[in-house]
Amino acid sequence: MDSRIHQSGVKDIMKRHILILAAGKGTRMKSALPKVLHPALFQPMLHHVIDLAQSISHDSLTVVVGFGEAEVKEACQQYPKVNFVRQKEQNGTADAVKAAKDLLGKESGSLVVLSGDVILFRRQNLEALLELQKKTKAAACFVTAKLDQPKGYGRVLRDSIGHVVGIREEKDCSTSERLISEVNAGIYSFQLDGLFTRIDGLGNQNEQGEFYLTDIIEQLAKENKGVETLILEDPIEMTGVNDRPTLSFVEDVLRDEINHQWMMEGVTMRNPTSIYIDRRTKLSPDVTLGQGVELQNCRIGEGVTIDAHCTLSNVSVGPHTHIKQGSVLADSEIGTHCQIGPYAHFRPGTELGSKVKIGNFVETKKASFKDGAKASHLSYIGDAEIGKDSNLGCGFITCNYDGFSKHKTVIGDGVFVGSDSQMIAPVTLGNGSYVASGTTVTRDVPSGDLAISRVKQDNKAGYADKIKKRLNKSKA
Ligand code: UD1
Ligand code: CA
Repeated sequence: MDSRIHQSGVKDIMKRHILILAAGKGTRMKSALPKVLHPALFQPMLHHVIDLAQSISHDSLTVVVGFGEAEVKEACQQYPKVNFVRQKEQNGTADAVKAAKDLLGKESGSLVVLSGDVILFRRQNLEALLELQKKTKAAACFVTAKLDQPKGYGRVLRDSIGHVVGIREEKDCSTSERLISEVNAGIYSFQLDGLFTRIDGLGNQNEQGEFYLTDIIEQLAKENKGVETLILEDPIEMTGVNDRPTLSFVEDVLRDEINHQWMMEGVTMRNPTSIYIDRRTKLSPDVTLGQGVELQNCRIGEGVTIDAHCTLSNVSVGPHTHIKQGSVLADSEIGTHCQIGPYAHFRPGTELGSKVKIGNFVETKKASFKDGAKASHLSYIGDAEIGKDSNLGCGFITCNYDGFSKHKTVIGDGVFVGSDSQMIAPVTLGNGSYVASGTTVTRDVPSGDLAISRVKQDNKAGYADKIKKRLNKSKA
């Protein structure tokens, strides 16, 4: 067999393992929350990095956890294929990699190392890094960038002909080294062969007394094992979030990128720097978003208008629906041509058919509304089914909770409920029934019947004038 073909065959089945370093406390965040769980555009930073890792082919994906281990694992339940290894004490990035020794020490192929706090890094560049390693067969390839303000990052040391000779952490830099503008992004691809043995041999004689993964680069360079770099064109991608101003900065970058993309796809945005849309949300052409709109994990149909200061999470909205100012909607499904708000509040389990109208100050929970149903003002509708074209008047309330358990209100099609009515659940209103204003419904209402429960009105002749006179006298 042609040896080159054989070689390339071997290369193709080379295994790839990915390790995300996420054990650090993030001291500079000054937070009880582990750094990697701080959200950027509604998702923990770590999720951005796991998503990046999962976007490239790999044989295993492992996260190194330490500070806030339980919390971090809990926050990653939606990623069942991710392994976790524990770094007992946070003794540096090399020590963090070492935590994966039991799991990966006997594996072959390459180990891609990502940082849980570098979230703007693009898939195309990760692929370029892997391609570089495939081409050069270098023992280590890592990402660098040239920064006007390299402060805080490890500087890349090169010899006179430009070969990498090491990485120096800022705290360990001499004055002249500090002037170097090329910095380490903290993203690497190593050959696994010999990596853990080298890590075992590292010392921690540095300013921070930590075991630096970056020291491996110097070793490999000394041993001529091949060290290559991918220099980023856009250095923003390598921003590492160590403090909250930088967290805010990367969130702005993500937001602008996502908003620009959607505007190019036909979405109108008023004041886009005030609009926050996460990476999971999908929009359609001719959607219009007012200022201050926030969308998390939503599906928004064609021609939908969402006015200023609405917040939607886990909501799908059918075409041509209008959601008016200040509405807060969660975990809900909304049909086409609906009118919602202003100031509507949908709690989880709200489902609307088409042409449903839910007006101002209406709160819903586990409530379904069939086509054409209306609740235009000031209502609470929980644990309820509202039939087609039924109308709930102002001040309608489902009394769904008796202090022990929740009960259901079922309202048929074409029902008219007058204002200020309460449904003492469980209760059912038959199709076409009618509830007079001010009624407290305690029993089922059969189809076609009218329910009325009011104290009979009594007019006391001249009594208003009498009271007024008395009051005037006491004032004088
Ligand atoms: C690191 C690099 C630096 C690079 C920068 C890029 C080293 C020694 N330095 O510095 O050259 O310019 O990233 O952003 O690697 N972590 C652990 N366990 C630890 C320490 C850290 O899991 O014991 C994790 C952190 O949670 C974080 C990542 O490793 O996700 C990077 O650690 P961090 O302390 O932020 O390193 P930098 O000082 O930024
Ligand atoms: Ca960092």
